[in-house]
Amino acid sequence: MTKNRNIPEGPEKSGEFRDSTDTPVDDIHRRIVGREQTEPDEGLEPPPAWVWVASVLFLFAMGFYLGRYGGSWSTVAHEVESPMSAAATPAKRVVDGAQVFVGVCQTCHQANGGGVSGQYPPLADSDWLTSDPETPVRIVLFGLEGPITVNGSSFNNKMPQFADKLADDEIAAVVNHVRSSWGNDAPPIDEAVVAGIRAEIGTRGPWGAAELLDARKRK
Ligand code: HEC
Repeated sequence: MTKNRNIPEGPEKSGEFRDSTDTPVDDIHRRIVGREQTEPDEGLEPPPAWVWVASVLFLFAMGFYLGRYGGSWSTVAHEVESPMSAAATPAKRVVDGAQVFVGVCQTCHQANGGGVSGQYPPLADSDWLTSDPETPVRIVLFGLEGPITVNGSSFNNKMPQFADKLADDEIAAVVNHVRSSWGNDAPPIDEAVVAGIRAEIGTRGPWGAAELLDARKRK
């Protein structure tokens, strides 16, 4: 067995330590250290795959949650949960009768309620309109046709029905408006009156003047 000069030898069999001055310790260290990999830095290891999967699932879940319950970042969204807020008791809409009149009735009955001679009867000072509230509601709901005398003038034309086009509160508002405009001074009605007449009659064709007088007497 030949001695390797570079490998330090253990204690001699004799039990004596060999003088180490001629042992090239630096050389040996350099070789050993150079052969070894440097230790990987702790904390920079790539995370395991399940961490990636869990993170992606978590992000999707949170995105879904925000989309579903985030209320589009609206501050109003939170009022739904607060019973004290105004949203819990939705404000009843207030219909402007004058606006309904302008949009729906004015083309025929004119802005001053004077109608058009021979074609559209006046609403100003009309006792069809002011003597009881139900008659104008009946007219607006189902229309009116045939001969009729208004304020001493004769008409024989046709007014369309509005049961399909106007809601109860709109009809109540516009009837209240015309009953209290152009010198008319009749008390207002509630939309329940409109709902009652609508429910009672259902659907029908336009009234004639005589039918309206009958209905007024029967009530
Ligand atoms: C397309 C034209 C037209 C529109 C729109 C119209 N009316 Fe009439 N209205 C008439 C005609 C025509 C008569 C008379 C029918 C007849 O000759 O039998 C009449 C009659 C009336 C009468 C009974 C007669 C009188 O002058 O008092 C009232 C009340 C009335 N309309 C209210 C309204 C109200 C309120 C509206 C709007 C919601 C309205 N009308 C929309 C044409 C119209």
